[in-house]
Amino acid sequence: MEASQRAARILVASNRGPVSYTKTADGGLTSRRGGGGLVSGLSAIGPDADALWVCAALSEGDREAVRQGVGEPGSHMIAVPPEVFAAAYNGIANSTLWFVHHMLYQTPLEPVFDESFESEWAAYEEYNAAFAQALADDAAEGAAVLVQDYHLTLVPALLRELRPDLRIGHFSHTPWAPPDYFRLLPDDVARRVLTGVLGADRAAFLTRRWADAFAACCVDVLGATLSEDGQAVTYQGRTTRLGVHGLGADADFLRERAHRDDVAERITALRAETGPGRRLIVRVDRTELSKNIVRGLHAYRRLLRVHPGWRERVVHVAFAYPSRQDLALYRDYTAEVARLAEEINDEFGTADWQPVLLRMDDDFARSLAAYRLADVALVNPIRDGMNLVAKEVPVVSDNGVALVLSREAGAYEEMAADALTVNPYDIRATAEALNAALTMPEAERADRTKRLADAATALPPSKWFLDQLDALGG
Ligand code: G6P
Repeated sequence: MEASQRAARILVASNRGPVSYTKTADGGLTSRRGGGGLVSGLSAIGPDADALWVCAALSEGDREAVRQGVGEPGSHMIAVPPEVFAAAYNGIANSTLWFVHHMLYQTPLEPVFDESFESEWAAYEEYNAAFAQALADDAAEGAAVLVQDYHLTLVPALLRELRPDLRIGHFSHTPWAPPDYFRLLPDDVARRVLTGVLGADRAAFLTRRWADAFAACCVDVLGATLSEDGQAVTYQGRTTRLGVHGLGADADFLRERAHRDDVAERITALRAETGPGRRLIVRVDRTELSKNIVRGLHAYRRLLRVHPGWRERVVHVAFAYPSRQDLALYRDYTAEVARLAEEINDEFGTADWQPVLLRMDDDFARSLAAYRLADVALVNPIRDGMNLVAKEVPVVSDNGVALVLSREAGAYEEMAADALTVNPYDIRATAEALNAALTMPEAERADRTKRLADAATALPPSKWFLDQLDALGG
């Protein structure tokens, strides 16, 4: 599916692409394929669709691949200068827009919008302009372009100026902040982000809640008009339709992958490490501020304190994989997770029982092993666009799993009925939910797991992707 200039009929644009490159010691390159909803969604359109994935060079290895002209067929990696990328990605995307949408600021001290913000914002403009130009160069007449996430909020409007013939969609994988919080952004930036997304024909979200928040921001900040049915925003004579496409788990892929030999090996190892017969409370996340891993550990500690009968009978398996380590706050958070796990092990551990099994090296096969064995899954984010772990665990569970789920995760809209739902800030309630999950009768747990798996797989990535294309029409 080699797509040449001006030939692609379907284009996807995202910061992180399907493949990443690493430089080897001898100056060569190795590549690594990623997974996720976009990868499996795109595969649903088949190899002959003239599709192209435009993504950014994220690392020195990626930039080297661009220099050498190495690349996957069907993808176009663009390299902006490293300092521009770093300022756009770390400064604006991950420290500003991510923080606003997940409501992560500690507001007495942050945010501070000063000169360094100003130069980071200029980099974000440059990086978005580079994407818009690449898409304009690569797209065939009337092509459909699906722009992804908060890294690329300005692209729809910039691209529309360059290529008014294109059909443009924007999809947010994060929550959207309510207007009072969104207004923390400087007025000019808040307006630029909203008008950037409104450059699309359709702006789509994972849940109705996030779509409504976006519409409320448009009304509040821009004075835009919302249609009576709440499905479209009109601003300066142009109308942008709103869409909701929940993303579900990829059941076929997961069930096949979770039964390969490497997962079976990890199951044996995990059983040996946690001890026979012990209940497992499992969580798997990027070590991400919004995932609320620290409060999860506090809740587990409280469980052991308030319900001492669980001591020696349960292990908290916490897989917290490295993320965004260029940012000091993420490094500090990672250290806090490790410190707290150690503190709990020191407080309660015995000669043959380690209460918390924390692993920070990324291993997908081991994650699947933990999914299969979990008696309880803990998914307690402060805010989350969807959270696929909540959907994946019930799909591959061997013996049924009780799901403790934050009411601030997008998955809550589809999964609340059969989960034990919690306010993610409330450690007492989370500890009690863990206790209820551990004591849930087996038959009830099995029934709930079946219904959770059905809800989790109702919208597979292929449908999620094709529905968006359909909705763009043409
Ligand atoms: C979230 C975002 C994605 C992003 C992912 C990993 O799920 O919505 O756009 O790719 O986090 O973050 P990273 O910064 O490593 O790409």
